[in-house]
Amino acid sequence: MKREQWATRTGFILAAVGSAIGLGNIWRFPYMAYENGGGAFLIPYFFAMLTAGIPFIIMEFGLGQKLRGSAPAVFSRISPKLEILGWFQVLIAAVIAVYYVAVIGWAISYLGFSFTQSWGPDANAFFFGEYLNLGDDNSPSALGSLQWHIVVPVIIAWAVSFYATFTGVKGGIERLSKVMMPLLFVMVLILTIRVVMLPGAAEGLNWLFKPDFSALTDPKVWSAAYGQIFFSLSVGFAIMIAYSSYLPEKSDINNNAMMTVFINCGFSLLAGVLIFSVLGYMAQQKGVALTEVVSAGVGLAFVTLPSAIDLLPLPWLLGPALFLALVVAGMSSHISIMEAIISSAIDKMGWTRKKAASVICGSGLVLSLLFATNGGLLLLDIVDYYINNVALLGSCLAELFLMAWVYKKLPELRSHVNSVSDFSIGTWWQYTISFICVGLLTLIVGNNLVTAVSENYAGYATSDQLLFGWGLLTLMLAGSAFIASRNNQYSLVSEV
Ligand code: ALA
Repeated sequence: MKREQWATRTGFILAAVGSAIGLGNIWRFPYMAYENGGGAFLIPYFFAMLTAGIPFIIMEFGLGQKLRGSAPAVFSRISPKLEILGWFQVLIAAVIAVYYVAVIGWAISYLGFSFTQSWGPDANAFFFGEYLNLGDDNSPSALGSLQWHIVVPVIIAWAVSFYATFTGVKGGIERLSKVMMPLLFVMVLILTIRVVMLPGAAEGLNWLFKPDFSALTDPKVWSAAYGQIFFSLSVGFAIMIAYSSYLPEKSDINNNAMMTVFINCGFSLLAGVLIFSVLGYMAQQKGVALTEVVSAGVGLAFVTLPSAIDLLPLPWLLGPALFLALVVAGMSSHISIMEAIISSAIDKMGWTRKKAASVICGSGLVLSLLFATNGGLLLLDIVDYYINNVALLGSCLAELFLMAWVYKKLPELRSHVNSVSDFSIGTWWQYTISFICVGLLTLIVGNNLVTAVSENYAGYATSDQLLFGWGLLTLMLAGSAFIASRNNQYSLVSEV
């Protein structure tokens, strides 16, 4: 079976950037910064970008391009014993895909509201109360009922992902990315320029940028920063390996990787400036502290963006354009998450693309309905916490450790990426991965495990932590072991 390929270099970069830039930048990055002390968060964030983001993405691009397969296929080519890691990563992608699509659903609803700014004067009350219908009695296990006004946009989002993955790499994903990414960038830039001029915006920006060195001793902040970098760059959960497996043999790696990281993180900062300027403005208008403007961090973007739109000239035009951009950013990432899963099924079971896309998107749709309920936001919050802090960071540590120390693949990979790239990377790359990344991640993951066992995240009940945290992780591990133990069709997929 001949593997599909990207048509152009720009096509690949846009698709990789399209995967990286998503809700992670506009929705998740600002709320991570918000919950972890603003300026206190940015230092570990940039440290993580340089020491882990760049080396890791180069490694995954190299692995995908050289070994030409989805994550389970690539790891199993290194050693059959490693296939389980690939499937664990695919399952991380699967869990993220089902809650991520719910947030895209919210954004689609807000796209509709933005024509008339129907969120009214209190965007916070509107989001949590009127829109989500989140009641005091809801919890991750008391979800309430399906909210049809959320179910419908969630189905629309699934339809787009299904179309793109069903159609394939060149026709679907590459074509959509070329339109979506430039639109998003222009919209966010226009809005940011407007909101930084608001009264109070400086306060918000001060909060985002003023470094707080004392927070650097808090392991929670480091964990959030590394988790955010991996989530945002789509590394460690099967995506970038799958995307780079469609690269032609001689494509550049190092330059493409650096561009993806800098565009992605630059964009996150821009979104941060946008959200925090509005937050500063809202705090001033209401005469409250910045940290009191929003009921829960996870809803930050859906409270601040509507308030920003209210302040714009032509809000009925610029509002929809912004939410369209948010939907677009989310969709291009969701498509990449689904592609990571679908390509793994194709490689393993020899399914056709059409069959894989139908079965996997169909099952995903059903599961994602859990998040389209009154308590969906609470379930999303707890699942996102365990998936990022334990599963994703753990999977990144395992991948880096195994490549660097057990299978000693880094020298070979370095010469491969250097042989195809515009510029070469030095031995610093190996040392950074082997020592800084592996060392720091060991500390972070170890600490996260202790914290997750000893404290109930966000005060949710112990039974919820057991079910949606530890229960889910155990199920994912057992599921990966089971799938990895089945026969595969990897030899049919062309190798270099
Ligand atoms: N990398 C994607 C995002 O940041 C998942 O949204």
